[in-house]
Amino acid sequence: MFRDQFPILNTTIYGHPLVYLDNAATTQKPQVVIDAVSRYYATLNSNIHRGVHHLAAEATDLHEQTRRKVQQFIGAAHSHEIVFTRGTTEAINLVASSFGKAYIHEGDEVIVSGMEHHSNIVPWQLAGARLRPIPFSDDGVLDLDAYASLFNSRTRIVAVAHVSNSLGTVNPIEQITAIAHAHGVPVMVDGAQAVAHTVVDVARIGCDFYCFSGHKMYAPMGIGVLYGREAILDTLPPYQGGGEMIKDVTFERTTYNELPFRFEAGTPSVGDTLGLSAAIDFMQQAGVQAIADHEASLLDYATCRLAEIEGLRIYGTAPHKAGVISFLIGQSHPYDVGTLLDKLGIAVRTGHHCAQPVMDRYGIPGTVRASFALYNTTEEIDALVSALHRIAPMLQ
Ligand code: ALA
Repeated sequence: MFRDQFPILNTTIYGHPLVYLDNAATTQKPQVVIDAVSRYYATLNSNIHRGVHHLAAEATDLHEQTRRKVQQFIGAAHSHEIVFTRGTTEAINLVASSFGKAYIHEGDEVIVSGMEHHSNIVPWQLAGARLRPIPFSDDGVLDLDAYASLFNSRTRIVAVAHVSNSLGTVNPIEQITAIAHAHGVPVMVDGAQAVAHTVVDVARIGCDFYCFSGHKMYAPMGIGVLYGREAILDTLPPYQGGGEMIKDVTFERTTYNELPFRFEAGTPSVGDTLGLSAAIDFMQQAGVQAIADHEASLLDYATCRLAEIEGLRIYGTAPHKAGVISFLIGQSHPYDVGTLLDKLGIAVRTGHHCAQPVMDRYGIPGTVRASFALYNTTEEIDALVSALHRIAPMLQ
């Protein structure tokens, strides 16, 4: 699907055609995104929101158009609910820091899931919260009864992944949000692994915050998004201080800018914003539901074919999964499997995937992870399976 638009996919690695199955780490970029970024630097480079000159005005317009495009892409009510960040990690840190200053005091609790990425654990610890993880079953499904029992008078926020980066589970975030709201508790969703793989509609989910990265959805690295519902975003103090986030500054006192600029200190990465704009156009041209359907069929195919490998165990077998397969073979170390696959041109991720509590839950050091994007094919899965057949004897 749209494979010919990704120049890097023509690369050979050690003489083998690249089979890129590390899309949960970052997706490759289509030519339209590469062109959008280089066009900005070649023809428009200037600082935005500040200059009266033509280039600054034009770049400002395109940057703010992208904000409106993101708003529509995720179904937010207002463009000022879209805050640009460097990525999901910065978006979560922004929420944890600002929400934390406003609402989290010693002894307060944050409910997370047991399958969070470290980026949705550590920022809350830095904010001083006690974490209450939602347990999950062996197949990687959150226990919603246990979740409902975690609420108490110290619960300040629920922060949960839409899709697990290590298990591929698609969590029932609408239900999770409804349960939290019934307790009067707001919800932040880590959408890093969801936004390129499923239709995201923040109004339908009902969440208060939704975070995602451009680079996992065909856009450049260095640009991400925090969606925050206006009513809650308005109550939060700024995250960082600097230019652009202020109205007036004196040595005695500063007044802060309105949303979203209050949360955007410093010069934004305008070229990357325009790359994000091109990536959204690209995804909409492909059709987000069509991408999801394609990846679902790759997941089914890969799950069946990997079962042929003797001793292969899949971690994460939830009924509702995105295109992520984590596995181990026999007693082999994931790093060895990844290194041997690399020699055959196949790129996968190995290790704990920044989700150490997930690995601890299964008592394993890590997994080998293959993850799909719209350009992957069944032939590439065949290549993975035949490479695994080939290397299996070396792993004894
Ligand atoms: N969070 C990214 C991953 O899961 C980097 O690989």
